[in-house]
Amino acid sequence: MNILLTGGLGFIGSHTAVVLAEQGHELVLLDNLCNSEMTVLDKLNTITGKNLAFYKGDVRDTALIKEILKTHQIEAVIHFAGLKSVAESGSDPMKYYDNNVAGSIALFEAMKAVDVKKLIFSSSATVYGVPQYLPYDEVHPTCPINTYGRTKLQVEEILQDLANANPDWSIACLRYFNPVGAHESGLIGEMPKGVPNNLMPYVCQVASGSLSHLNVFGDDYDTKDGTGERDYIHVMDLAEGHAAAIAFVSRNAGIEMINLGTGMPYSVYDLINAFEKSASRAIERVVQGRRSGDLPIYYAKADKARVLLGWQASRGLQLMCDSSWKFQALLKGLC
Ligand SMILES: NC(=O)c1ccc[n+]([C@@H]2O[C@H](COP(=O)([O-])OP(=O)(O)OC[C@H]3O[C@@H](n4cnc5c(N)ncnc54)[C@H](O)[C@@H]3O)[C@@H](O)[C@H]2O)c1
Repeated sequence: MNILLTGGLGFIGSHTAVVLAEQGHELVLLDNLCNSEMTVLDKLNTITGKNLAFYKGDVRDTALIKEILKTHQIEAVIHFAGLKSVAESGSDPMKYYDNNVAGSIALFEAMKAVDVKKLIFSSSATVYGVPQYLPYDEVHPTCPINTYGRTKLQVEEILQDLANANPDWSIACLRYFNPVGAHESGLIGEMPKGVPNNLMPYVCQVASGSLSHLNVFGDDYDTKDGTGERDYIHVMDLAEGHAAAIAFVSRNAGIEMINLGTGMPYSVYDLINAFEKSASRAIERVVQGRRSGDLPIYYAKADKARVLLGWQASRGLQLMCDSSWKFQALLKGLC
């Protein structure tokens, strides 16, 4: 199938490109490089042995998107492009509504104009908000507690309306939990610009010496060891989930919201301990007070993905840490 990946040079987009290319799909990647680099394309070409089509451009450029969709006879779009910092979304909300919501509308307009009706959207577990019960299933009420989460929920709602009005569209909103890890080659992985917002890239940078220590925000939660627990999912499992979702949208019309998680929560200390084994070095940590807006624990009910997509995560925490460290060590010339 001919597939456009917006945000295709980003963390999740690049790993998904590897899996889809290996399955024989024809890919076109679009990225404005606001959180990625051109070197990722070279690495993707090395891993896949292909010369992937790439456009440097923005999803808000409707004319460019229409041109790409027509030129490459695109049949499905996976919409990864977006901004993802919860903190920045609070301090600069308009940037997030413009990029994530207006950007998505511009993309869907372009798709509609040239009759491309298959779409996978990168949504997030943040749409759920404070858990009313756990694990979160897909019918758990949605009430995001930050601007980033609201942008994701708004796009889901737009897509629900689009699907209601156009029953021949086929849409999967994939609600990711906490993607971590890297491709087994160590060539691609998560490469945030500036100080990382997420735990795993932060731990990686402490281990490689770029940052002095890890702040643990809260060790007095009502969890097994007092630190926050999350449903970490290996990015290659997530990538395979997208491949399964492409097969699903090819066969079915309508819209589905689907969790992509493992269903297994791990604490901050679980992750640090596993990472110390991977890197054979200690991670300096300093316990700080709780950070406002952090939830003590959340994780996915992953049954719907298993039933609808025939997919479930198979990689464990140690592999997540091993592959993250391999990527970081190669990047920093430590091995
Ligand atoms: N990584 C996570 O923890 C996580 C969790 C849930 C959902 N998501 C969502 O998944 C998607 C991909 O996340 P990621 O971790 O790969 O992030 P990422 O920042 O690594 O990748 C996003 C890519 O999109 C590009 N981009 C951003 N805005 C763009 C625009 N307007 N036009 C073109 N390109 C643009 C960036 O340059 C980047 O390469 C995002 O929409 C994110 O919100 C991520």
